[in-house]
Amino acid sequence: MAIMPQQGDPGALRAELGEVRAALDETDARRRGALDRTAAVSLALMVVGLAVFASVSAYSFAAGQPGRGRAFAVLTVIALPFVLYAAWSSVGRYLRLGRELTRMRRRELDLTTQLRAPSPTRVEAPVISSDLEPDAAAATIEAALPAYAVQRMLGKGGCGIVFLAEHRQAGWQRALKLLTEPDLLPDSQSRFLREAQVMESLDHPHVARVYEYVEHAGFNLIVMEFLAGGSASARRAELLGRPEPVCALGLAVADALAAAHARGVVHRDIKPANLLFAADGVVKVTDFGIAKLLAGGVDGEQASVLALTPGYAAPEQLNGDEITARTDLFGLSATLYRLFTGRTPPLPGPDGSPRANLTTIPPGIAAVLERSLNGFPENRHPSAKEFALDLAAASGAALRPGWLDSAEIPFRGAAEIRAAAKA
Ligand SMILES: Nc1ncnc2c1ncn2[C@@H]1O[C@H](COP(=O)(O)OP(=O)(O)OP(=O)(O)O)[C@@H](O)[C@H]1O
Ligand SMILES: [Mg+2]
Repeated sequence: MAIMPQQGDPGALRAELGEVRAALDETDARRRGALDRTAAVSLALMVVGLAVFASVSAYSFAAGQPGRGRAFAVLTVIALPFVLYAAWSSVGRYLRLGRELTRMRRRELDLTTQLRAPSPTRVEAPVISSDLEPDAAAATIEAALPAYAVQRMLGKGGCGIVFLAEHRQAGWQRALKLLTEPDLLPDSQSRFLREAQVMESLDHPHVARVYEYVEHAGFNLIVMEFLAGGSASARRAELLGRPEPVCALGLAVADALAAAHARGVVHRDIKPANLLFAADGVVKVTDFGIAKLLAGGVDGEQASVLALTPGYAAPEQLNGDEITARTDLFGLSATLYRLFTGRTPPLPGPDGSPRANLTTIPPGIAAVLERSLNGFPENRHPSAKEFALDLAAASGAALRPGWLDSAEIPFRGAAEIRAAAKA
């Protein structure tokens, strides 16, 4: 989450973003059409035909048959402009649409950057921990948690900075996250503690374990499980379009969400960067409750755009409407769509129907994502568990028998979901 000055009216920006994304999808499809298999095969046949005419002509001259040679030379000359025209129109169209796509992507980036900016009426430009120099942040952490020796920085997000640290006596490794200064966010301290109590009680194989929340010198610190396998965002290229690992990840995250929702915790920021892998390949959801901490409100109240990630945020988040468990199902579906297609889905149309192009996803699985990418929460799956059971049944029908038991992303969730995946 970037924090930048607010420009423009968010409603108008969101409307334009929706249009730009729909146009992006359409142009992308047209560009693929310009060089699709039929066009490529016709072009190749024309080039082969031309080569045959030219060769027969040359051979005929060499074999002392100038009449035939001339006839084929004339055919070659007549065919050449057609072949050049066909090549120019397919390749030229492809390149021109490519330039259009680049222009649209720049505009999309520009709009999403503006939408990521915090609303000045809700958050007054907080000084954030990720603005700190890593050395200063590490010193703050060591002062707050003297039992730990900071080893190296793991990364920075929009609202925090994360270090790997080792417990001086026990030797265990933990990820320590230093968060936005609470004093600068209204009422955040009591909310932080409330969230802390819930998060510490959440013990699930696909949720990153949180061991401790500490407040020190105006900063919030979270001591959590170190996840050495990187994020689903970092592993996107490797997972791209592969139904088995992507569906296994979807089932694991849906099961984790079901457990959190049962305790009244909505994640609010499900996206590939918040799904991390343990060293043994098990995927875990991180940052539960953090989006809410930054949202400046309790459930049901408006969320600040500070806690939104464009491309994954549900329409009700963008519109400042009520956030529910179904908000996370939109984020999860957008995440799976990204892992299947390489793109985030366009925002749904005004009637709620997703405008995402799901044709490259196995149809049964596409139907599951389509349902929870609906713009209206009431049209999505009613719960994370129902989403998981639906995805499990669709994956079981589309993938090879026993796929989940040998999936490269291990599933450690509910037996009921594992059984549904075997259908
Ligand atoms: N428990 C963890 N173990 C290992 N690496 C982690 C852990 N938590 C976070 N990281 C890494 O630290 C970096 C910063 O994480 P952070 O959650 O602050 O940002 P983000 O999720 O990338 O973005 P955003 O601020 O939008 O949520 C990321 O590269 C993340 O993969
Ligand atoms: Mg994160």
